[in-house]
Amino acid sequence: MQLLAKLSATTLFLQELVTRPRQVGAILPSSKNLAVAMARWLPLDPDCYALELGPGTGVVTQALLERGLREDRLIAIENSPKMADHLRTRFPRATTITGDAFQLDTLLKMHAPHAATKIGVVFSSLPLLNFEPAIADDLARKIRALLPDNGKLIQYSYHMGNKQPKAADHFDFIASDKIWLNLPPARVSVYQK
Ligand SMILES: C[S@@+](CC[C@H](N)C(=O)[O-])C[C@H]1O[C@@H](n2cnc3c(N)ncnc32)[C@H](O)[C@@H]1O
Repeated sequence: MQLLAKLSATTLFLQELVTRPRQVGAILPSSKNLAVAMARWLPLDPDCYALELGPGTGVVTQALLERGLREDRLIAIENSPKMADHLRTRFPRATTITGDAFQLDTLLKMHAPHAATKIGVVFSSLPLLNFEPAIADDLARKIRALLPDNGKLIQYSYHMGNKQPKAADHFDFIASDKIWLNLPPARVSVYQK
């Protein structure tokens, strides 16, 4: 990404942080290190669709494409209209849905019916710690219903302790990676159906 484009994406992120702090849930976009640590879990299957929840300004999205995901195989759900517009300009062949990821089942049926039954992996940057446990639990159920057997959910959080994040009850926990080169340091957790 060009320096000017990066600056304007960071400015957009900070503006959204000021107006919607709980939903943005981070002080800066993810570092390249964190995005690459997420993207390394992309399945090799070139036909599978990837669903990204809370893509923000597209740092993880970019890492997924660099890892080999075809842009037209990416479905993104972002509830900030400004960020969603930014993503549509940056990734025109991806399907970017403006909406609430907690309604992902309905949104996919409405906006991406071609992909709704072909999603093989879910990448989530949602600040789940800011949401009520019952809402996060419901989201985990919906993601589980979407994925095929052995399909993976990759979620990052800023919780560095031993307690598992909230998706844990509905999946097998298979890996965790601490990313120190991020502000703040983050943990990538990988779950499998
Ligand atoms: C921590 S930021 C991560 C942004 C980006 N993925 C990154 O790594 O830099 C969380 C993102 O989730 C979005 N978000 C929060 N709640 C959401 C919801 N219910 N549905 C969709 N997106 C949501 C925010 O607008 C923000 O873009």
